[in-house]
Amino acid sequence: MKNLKIAAVQTAPVFGDLRANVETALDLIPGGMDLVVLPELFSTGYQFRDRDELARYAEDLGGDPDPGSALARLTETAAGTGAVLIAGLAERDGDKFFNSAVLVRPDGSRESYRKVHLFMDEKSLFEPGDLGFPVFEACGTTVGMMICFDWIFPEAARSLALAGAEILCHPSNLLLPWCQAAMVTRCQENMVHAVTANRVGTENRTGQELVFSGRSQVVSPMGQRLAGLDPIETGAAVAEIKIMERDKQFTPRNHLFDDRRPEAYRS
Ligand code: ACM
Repeated sequence: MKNLKIAAVQTAPVFGDLRANVETALDLIPGGMDLVVLPELFSTGYQFRDRDELARYAEDLGGDPDPGSALARLTETAAGTGAVLIAGLAERDGDKFFNSAVLVRPDGSRESYRKVHLFMDEKSLFEPGDLGFPVFEACGTTVGMMICFDWIFPEAARSLALAGAEILCHPSNLLLPWCQAAMVTRCQENMVHAVTANRVGTENRTGQELVFSGRSQVVSPMGQRLAGLDPIETGAAVAEIKIMERDKQFTPRNHLFDDRRPEAYRS
């Protein structure tokens, strides 16, 4: 059975410095990885002042990537390293914007997810994601994407796990410092791996200082923190995991999914 080498890359982007943010993040990818997760909005930074500003930075994720764009650099890097890359990008689709994550395979094929649960001022900038929680084949297994604040809704991780995801890939710009602990529970309650790639540093572009909480991590289905970073430094948290379909039989008489009682959850 093949092992999978996974990295959660932790960056410190400078708002609007696209080229440097992208190259610095790509330089942090260790050699020999199979799957690499980069933070939410990794190329732009987080705090857009308004939709006009967002419009200047958002990328079209359909069709051929524009030369020099973050999507083009992700595509080139996936091809060059042989790794599947997942990264958060501001997406333009016509006159709409989405806070999206793109999955790029070494052969250039790609998938995307649009953040379903928008956080705070994101609601003035982006449309809520309209693609649900799809799962994709990559690296010989099934992966799903969720973005940052999706963590606080257990339904996000559950939907991905019910659809067959074995690894939850979680590009983030986390502020609240307790998500990382919650993701341990998400892994345990769904018997999946999770890769949270967060950023560090601060932004203060709208009169509100945001301090990002780092502590990127790779967590096992039993809730072990296989690799993790601190709240300050950039870098990569690297872990090696076995690819296998996890048995959701929790005890001889308890199956994590079959024992669910949706009819009891509605009252
Ligand atoms: C967040 O969802 N970026 C906090």
